[in-house]
Amino acid sequence: MNISEALRRRKSIRAFKSTPVPEATLETIFSNALKSPSNCNVQPWQTYVVSGQLKSQLTTQLMEEILSGVAPYPEVDWKIQFTGEKQGRKDASANALYSAMGIIREDKPARKAALLRNWQFFDAPHAIFFTMERELGLAGAVDLGIFAQSLSLGAVEHGISSCFQAALNQFPGPIKRSLSIPDDHIILFGMSLGYEADDAPVNKAKTDRESLTKLVLFKS
Ligand SMILES: Cc1cc2nc3c(=O)[nH]c(=O)nc-3n(C[C@H](O)[C@H](O)[C@H](O)COP(=O)(O)O)c2cc1C
Repeated sequence: MNISEALRRRKSIRAFKSTPVPEATLETIFSNALKSPSNCNVQPWQTYVVSGQLKSQLTTQLMEEILSGVAPYPEVDWKIQFTGEKQGRKDASANALYSAMGIIREDKPARKAALLRNWQFFDAPHAIFFTMERELGLAGAVDLGIFAQSLSLGAVEHGISSCFQAALNQFPGPIKRSLSIPDDHIILFGMSLGYEADDAPVNKAKTDRESLTKLVLFKS
């Protein structure tokens, strides 16, 4: 598979088979992602891949915390107020997702249940957390985004799907405790990774993209 095809095939998957990805395959896709460029080659992406029993325990701990009613407390400023066209695109992607799941806008409990699936990693066998030293700020965040995209494309080449998840930065406590993540590191975002569950309605959600002429301005 070439890169163009991987870019075309990649999409967010939110229902996974329980089958774990073989360790050797995980090592291959992560090793390749480590070739990503970074600002001054600092490679700030301290990454955790959580599987098996530990992932199940972490899911339980996260669900307990969230269901206790605690408000999100991300260590990064992720409260984005979208306006105009951005808000329109956000609404369109939410609509695509919820209509694929057969959930109507007014069905708040069903929407909440769908949201909670984030912290169950959509039943994926692997939960990934992208962390960096807090002080790196925006420059570190750019590098982590590039690394994660390399990972998601490399995964596609091996028939493996993923979903980027900013939701996984919302309740850092149980994750940092479970993985002994140092205090001066922050969880920027996470990702669920594994094999797509066949015929799951949620995976039929399809998002659009703006045109080349609108978003890329060629000047000469
Ligand atoms: C940084 C980032 C954070 C995201 N956070 C979430 C999330 O918390 N939960 C989720 O279900 N999808 C999340 N997504 C997936 C986006 O909704 C998805 O990429 C977008 O709608 C485009 O759809 P596609 O990935 O299928 O092409 C995130 C994507 C990115 C890049």
